Amino acid sequence: MTEQTRDKFFGESQLFEPPGSFQEKALVSDRRLYESAQKNRLAFWASMAEDVEWMKKWDTIFEDDDAPFYRWFNGGTLNVSFNCVDRHTLTSRRNKAALIFEGEPGDSVTLTYQQLYREVNRFSSGLKKIGVQKGDRVTIYMPMIPEAIIAMLSCTRIGAIHSVVFGGFSSDSLKDRIDDADSTIVITADGGYRRGKVVPLKENTDQAVAACPSVEKVIVVKRVGNAINMDEQRDLWYHEIIKEADDYCVPEEMQAEDPLFILYSSGTTGKPKGILHTTGGYLVGVHCTFKYVFDYRDEDIFWCTADIGWVTGHSYIVYGPLSNGATVILYEGTPDYPERDRFWEMIERYRVNVFYTAPTAIRAFMRWGEDWPARRDLSSLRLLGTVGEPINPEAWMWYHEYIGLGKCPIVDTWWQTETGMILITPLPGVTTTKPGSASQPFPGIEAAILDEAGEEVEPGKGGFLVLTSPWPAMLRTLYKDPERFKETYWQQYPGKYFTGDGAMKDKDGYFWIMGRVDDVMNISGHRIGTMEVESALVDHKAVVEAAVIGKVHDLKGQAISAFVTLKEGLDGSDELVEELKAHVVKKIGAIARPDDIFFASELPKTRSGKIMRRLLRDVAEGRALGDTTTLLDPGVLAGIMEKYKS
Ligand code: WT7
Repeated sequence: MTEQTRDKFFGESQLFEPPGSFQEKALVSDRRLYESAQKNRLAFWASMAEDVEWMKKWDTIFEDDDAPFYRWFNGGTLNVSFNCVDRHTLTSRRNKAALIFEGEPGDSVTLTYQQLYREVNRFSSGLKKIGVQKGDRVTIYMPMIPEAIIAMLSCTRIGAIHSVVFGGFSSDSLKDRIDDADSTIVITADGGYRRGKVVPLKENTDQAVAACPSVEKVIVVKRVGNAINMDEQRDLWYHEIIKEADDYCVPEEMQAEDPLFILYSSGTTGKPKGILHTTGGYLVGVHCTFKYVFDYRDEDIFWCTADIGWVTGHSYIVYGPLSNGATVILYEGTPDYPERDRFWEMIERYRVNVFYTAPTAIRAFMRWGEDWPARRDLSSLRLLGTVGEPINPEAWMWYHEYIGLGKCPIVDTWWQTETGMILITPLPGVTTTKPGSASQPFPGIEAAILDEAGEEVEPGKGGFLVLTSPWPAMLRTLYKDPERFKETYWQQYPGKYFTGDGAMKDKDGYFWIMGRVDDVMNISGHRIGTMEVESALVDHKAVVEAAVIGKVHDLKGQAISAFVTLKEGLDGSDELVEELKAHVVKKIGAIARPDDIFFASELPKTRSGKIMRRLLRDVAEGRALGDTTTLLDPGVLAGIMEKYKS
């Protein structure tokens, strides 16, 4: 966010109290949770942990003797799939819908908790039969279909560590992630539907796995029925495995600190980080935040539109909702297929009550116009949420008015892949919200805004968002890279977690997140490192050097702009621009396609040779240049500005 928009945020913040009718029925309608956490933070987390089913209770709530490798609920044992499935089959929820799936073409399936139980048990048993063991890594590269969730839950049942890779990533990205995790199994589908077309997931998997020696078996779900290659030695059909499997598979007794999953996310280097979450703390964190932030009610239908390839899908489609026994919608496709009212039509048809989506999507809906939602009956909605990037007050107001019909509280939830769970958020029956602010830390969470020196800044002043005490669902390390874990998160302010976000706190103690302060972009709510895109560009034979920046964009929040230096004797042409864009898509995936590519004979660098992306951002956003005194050759930048204007 630029200084200008931030000021705009502040100037006009309107207040929205929880509607009386909402508050009356809300799970929490006073400050008691905050007060109890304030009084005794660890006792508060222990009380939250009571809501999860343990096989053996923990010995200690929290251990910090090996900081920053913290341990939560150590000595406790549990199984996540038991919590998400088995325990509901022992209550009146057994015949309640767990998943309501709708494919993009319109096909649909509902699985009750009892049915989900059967599927998870059979697939878990199948995985065991083909030799998957506790601690093995399993990569899941799938469309948004029930089998994806069944696969995740089955891994947790047998203690295998899943690594879900977003289905929009290219085969190269998939390969890097399989390799880093040393996965022995990849679970995929023949394809998935997206905007009426088939995404060739199996073909991508074949290309990736060809270069991954660790992979022993590839399991394939038949989703679209397209022609694919099946390697007789290596590939197995999901439905064949299920046929041979047993009805029951004993849930593995896992230690609270046993790894649960790895999820790759971008950082400031070219190599994605394998963010590792463990079992007990993660489940406690997502369980209680789902319950209180979304004011969970047994009769609700909850819809989170994220993909299971991102942490939002892990925490708030799968583990948070299912451990609470909630009913979730799982939708395979895009919001504009076949028409731009697909979401609203589905909300009307299923009578969805709680809807959780991203600001970038809301801005697209705004652009499409309010006629689309107006054609549908959205009166079933009672609560709305957003996540992924700062929401501009205009989009907040639009969401409030045209989707929430003026009556639904909005929870703007700030968190990260690393945090596992929502950390800064309103509680809908308690918090008076201000459009554009994620409001306040969840009970038990402690956050502060610090300056470079580690001092807390005054209200209204910008600084770095830091979490000053650990929380249960925090990442435990970066897979196979504990040093990078320490450097990235714990070095800036010893003993405190550095989020990488800039933020400020206003005089009422409300947090306003301003976006990343490192070389990480936020494109439509997706995190992409500038270095990753630069590496992809430099990988092309015509390119010598590249600098990539995130430039303010109305719809996406940020868009990718690249400045590229070509090999001597080569000229930049429109064809080359297209070729380079396609190359990035091939290396990373469509989400990383640059919007613009500019050719420059040199890039602006400091005397020590660091590319000054900050100045390129100034150029791209048409601002006066910031401090240029450290530039080696100011002429280089002048040249780029000349070209940029033309
Ligand atoms: C980054 C984390 C958490 C799931 C989705 C993204 C930004 C996230 C908000 C929000 C302002 C937000 C931050 C954060 N972000 N939610 N409500 N308001 N910014 O997960 O890919 O790990 O990205 O997304 O910059 O650091 P992620």
